[in-house]
Amino acid sequence: MKIVITGSTGWVGNAVLKKCLSTPAITSVVSISRRAPEINDDKLTTILHDDFSSYPNAIIEKMKTADACIYCLGTNIPVKPAELNRKINFDYALATANAFSEATKNKPSIRFVYLSGALPEKDPNKRLWILEDNRKMRGELENALLKLDQEAGPTGMKIYIARPGFVQPPGANVRTWLISTIANAILQDDLAAAMVQLALEGSSGPLVENAELKSIASSAKTSL
Ligand SMILES: NC(=O)c1ccc[n+]([C@@H]2O[C@H](COP(=O)([O-])OP(=O)(O)OC[C@H]3O[C@@H](n4cnc5c(N)ncnc54)[C@H](OP(=O)(O)O)[C@@H]3O)[C@@H](O)[C@H]2O)c1
Repeated sequence: MKIVITGSTGWVGNAVLKKCLSTPAITSVVSISRRAPEINDDKLTTILHDDFSSYPNAIIEKMKTADACIYCLGTNIPVKPAELNRKINFDYALATANAFSEATKNKPSIRFVYLSGALPEKDPNKRLWILEDNRKMRGELENALLKLDQEAGPTGMKIYIARPGFVQPPGANVRTWLISTIANAILQDDLAAAMVQLALEGSSGPLVENAELKSIASSAKTSL
């Protein structure tokens, strides 16, 4: 299986990249990033690219032979000005999903796994008290991705939106009473494992919440 990954130089994306490289079923990984990830591996090819709102034919050609795309590009904190934030955190994701769908058209079992941000709000009319614009923009993006999924029909590219809660670094104890009480938490490695598993096998529906991500990661571990 061949995987395309974006955001592989980032905190979550790098963990996903490492998981892809250590997964035997994945034989080839193409990282599309503005700088090369600091990993050398025979399975890994890096394509340097700056503007993810469009893709030249050379990259589309590489996408054509892939089976899934794991999209981890994005910023945790809204970038300023707002137009740039929208470009990076909305336009880039939708353009990549569209480009990947078009490149893999008519191929069976194609998957696009999107790493969503904090507390996306899908209702544009809802009043929010924190990060309203950014959360509504993420919700708008999720709605656009779900529309793309529906338009692709049952045989087209399937979209999976990973919605992790509080992502904890390796070694953190997710069972800590305080964390599990106040936050919806997942370990970084478990999030990476779940996203790779979604790329390999999908899930029952497109929205994959924190609890399901943890369950997918746990099943993936026991099936090894
Ligand atoms: N960290 C969390 O706890 C968490 C939890 C839930 C969801 N998320 C979401 O996951 C996504 C990634 O988070 P992260 O923590 O991994 O962030 P990160 O460490 O800052 O990594 C961001 C990634 O996106 C790339 N990127 C950012 N701006 C770019 C631009 N203008 N052009 C091209 N590439 C760009 C970065 O490339 P460079 O290395 O070249 O900068 C890097 O690969 C975000 O959307 C975030 O909201 C994160």
